[in-house]
Amino acid sequence: NKLVVLDVDCGQDDAQAIMLALTRPNVQVLGITCVSGNVGVHQVCRNVLRILKVFGRLDVPVYRGADVPILGTHMDCSHWHGQDGLGDVPDPDPPSLELVQSEHAVTALLRLSKEHPGEISLVAMAPLTNLALAVRMDPEFPARLRELVIMGGNINGIGNETPSGEFNFYCDPEAANMVLNGYKGVLINIIPWEPCITAMAIPYDEWDKIMAIPTERGKFHSAILAASTAREKAAKTHTPLYHTCDPYALMVAARPDIVMETEDVYATVELRGEVTRGQMVCDYRGLWKKEPNLRVVKKLDMKAAIQMFWDALQ
Ligand code: BDR
Ligand code: CA
Repeated sequence: NKLVVLDVDCGQDDAQAIMLALTRPNVQVLGITCVSGNVGVHQVCRNVLRILKVFGRLDVPVYRGADVPILGTHMDCSHWHGQDGLGDVPDPDPPSLELVQSEHAVTALLRLSKEHPGEISLVAMAPLTNLALAVRMDPEFPARLRELVIMGGNINGIGNETPSGEFNFYCDPEAANMVLNGYKGVLINIIPWEPCITAMAIPYDEWDKIMAIPTERGKFHSAILAASTAREKAAKTHTPLYHTCDPYALMVAARPDIVMETEDVYATVELRGEVTRGQMVCDYRGLWKKEPNLRVVKKLDMKAAIQMFWDALQ
C-alpha cells in the first residue's frame, strides 16, 4: 500500500485528484491538508469534505492550513473554478466544518511524517505555503518523506496566471522557492504547467465519454466541471483537447509505472522579477553547477491515465 497525504486548494482539478486517490486500491490517504489558493482555506476544507461525503469517505482526516501566503495577500482563482471552487453547483446538504480536525495542517504533516518515516508520498497541488512552513518548523521533515510530488511551476517560461507565472507558484513564490531549495534528502517529482496542456492533454472525444459516466460519482464529477468545460469549449482559444493538472500529480505517486519521460534539472523560483515573479527558472545547461533538485515529469502513458479516471468514476 502507498501511504499518501494530499495538500490541496480544492478547486476542480484538486477534486479530481482526490477522487482518484480515494478509489485506487493501492493508495491509503492518511490525510488531506488544506491551504488557500483557488479559494480561501475555509472553502477548501468545505470542498474536500463534500467530495469525501460523495465518496463515502468522511473517515479521512482533513486539516486546515495556511490562509495567506508567506508574503502578501491571498489571490484566488474563482474566475476559473467558480465562486465556491467547485463550479458553483449547489450542495443541498453540506457536511459540517466541525468535521475538520483541530490540529493545524502543518503540525499534522510533521506528526504524520514521524509516525510513518520514509513511507509517505506527499502530493502537493496548491500554493506551497504549508510545505514551506513545515520545513521551517522542522528541517528534517523532507527527509522523512518517501517522495514529494508537486503540480506547479513551469519549465519553458509559459504561465497561466501571468504570462510567465503558473498559478500555484505565482500565488506564493516565496514558499515555492523555499520548497525547491529547502527540501533536502527527498526526491521531488514535478508536473509543471506546460506538459499539462501538451503531452498530457486529453482529446475531447475521449473526455466527453468520461463526463457522461452515469454513476453518482460520475455525475458529481461532471457537474462540478460543467461550467468551466462549457466556457472552455465556447472560447476563441478552444482546441479539441481537455486540460487538467492536479490528477497527474496523484497519478505519478500512485502509478509511477505510467511515467514515460522525465528530465532531472536544478530549478529555482524568481522572487523579484518585474514581469516574471513566480516563474520557475530551470538551469538546463548547468551554468550554476548545482545538483538537480527536481525530476520533471514530461510525459505519461495517457491511455493508462485516462483509464484511471474511468476506474475512479465508474
Ligand atoms: C494549478 O492552479 C490551480 O488553479 C489548479 O488547481 C492547479 O493546481 C494549475 O496551474
Ligand atoms: Ca490545485
